[in-house]
Amino acid sequence: TKEPTWSQRFESALHPAIARLNASISFDIELIEYDITGSQAHAKMLAHTGIISPEEGSLLVSGLEQIRQEYLSGKFHPGIDAEDVHFAVEKRLTEIVGDVGKKLHTARSRNDQVGTDTRLYLRDQIQHIRSCLREFQTVLLDIADNHIETLIPGYTHLQRAQPLSLAHHLLAYFQMAQRDWERLGDVYRRVNISPLGCGALAGTTFPIDRHYTAELLQFDEVYANSLDGVSDRDFAIEFLCAASLIMVHLSRLSEEVILWSSEEFRFVTLKDSCATGSSIMPQKKNPDVPELVRGKTGRVFGHLQAMLVIMKGLPLAYNKDLQEDKEGLFDSVKTVKACLEAMTILLHEGLEFRTQRLGEAVAEDFSNATDVADYLAARGVPFREAYNLVGKVVKTSIAAGKLLKDLSLSEWQQLHPAFEADIYEAIAPRQVVAARNSYGGTGFEQVSKALQAARTQITVK
Ligand code: ARG
Repeated sequence: TKEPTWSQRFESALHPAIARLNASISFDIELIEYDITGSQAHAKMLAHTGIISPEEGSLLVSGLEQIRQEYLSGKFHPGIDAEDVHFAVEKRLTEIVGDVGKKLHTARSRNDQVGTDTRLYLRDQIQHIRSCLREFQTVLLDIADNHIETLIPGYTHLQRAQPLSLAHHLLAYFQMAQRDWERLGDVYRRVNISPLGCGALAGTTFPIDRHYTAELLQFDEVYANSLDGVSDRDFAIEFLCAASLIMVHLSRLSEEVILWSSEEFRFVTLKDSCATGSSIMPQKKNPDVPELVRGKTGRVFGHLQAMLVIMKGLPLAYNKDLQEDKEGLFDSVKTVKACLEAMTILLHEGLEFRTQRLGEAVAEDFSNATDVADYLAARGVPFREAYNLVGKVVKTSIAAGKLLKDLSLSEWQQLHPAFEADIYEAIAPRQVVAARNSYGGTGFEQVSKALQAARTQITVK
């Protein structure tokens, strides 16, 4: 029979099926380096405050360092009997340094310990994701630079609306990524608060120094309330919200790339390095990258939802339900990083805009109709009246199989005497785009300025 894991209060070991349900080692091993770093800070604090001797403190710190090396060199594989990463490390420490290892858990609980580990982990991951966002933004800007004067149909309701500068379209995604970057910075502030020293729930009888460990671990603050400290997962939910929004943005871009690469749009060609084929249809080239990104968005939303539901009925303070915070968090981190990386590569080298086709696309529709109305309105005709007149021309032109540029000057003048020969220039796609020079608009001048401003924005680290 197996030894019980816990105190002498227990007489027998867990039922194997229950042990499997209970154990988190298969996934929380991901936290091991943070667990070691957190424990080293705790050991230093115990020595610093005289709770253990300086010699004991350094033994603990170096023993923990040895476990890190063993783990990194692939020599440490704790099994399910360790239950979780915290027990695994403590057990190995005692094997390495002997009985003094049993002092590590003085004035600490796994509850403040796991909260510390998770925050240290998330802190690193947030910085990593922020730098992935910067790379994504940089690629967007590089492409936008080359396409200020490339026109692309602009849509509302997925119906042709008004033509755009392609750079302007790409800069919209730059702005979303910018908000994502800022949002993660804001989340970081609430991730970077130390729960270490909150104990199981109520604090500790030992004269610990929470600010000391916080400083060693570079936390900005410490939790003010021990119950809140061990049971708060707002920071994880906030992160999952921010991660979900990143996925929303990537998924919207994915959807556009998928549409653009279809035979119906033909706005982009996919390069072989980022596309796949079909096992039966030899002609196929499929946009799997954006499809997977769009698809993986679902799991990140799911993890956010799961975390909200996990939290909603929890009485204070720690409950084992909280162990369920990790897999969704880890998977979201992994997914967001992989998707950002893949979309960055796709943009950088996986697709090419078909500029000739785009130029033709913006010339073959009625997306210059607003400009005819604006032309009249600028010459004193009330806008609504101009709008109605143009609606009529659109109707008759469609019936006649013509575009607005095909109308003769006399046809225009019959419609309204304010029309002059310069109407043709005013409705040419390039001019239609150039003319939208209001702040934040698609006019080339605005877009050049926006690009410059964006370049400055991403220099902020
Ligand atoms: N593996 C646990 C978790 O991830 C560690 C904390 C366990 N605490 C306890 N009181 N059982 O949440």
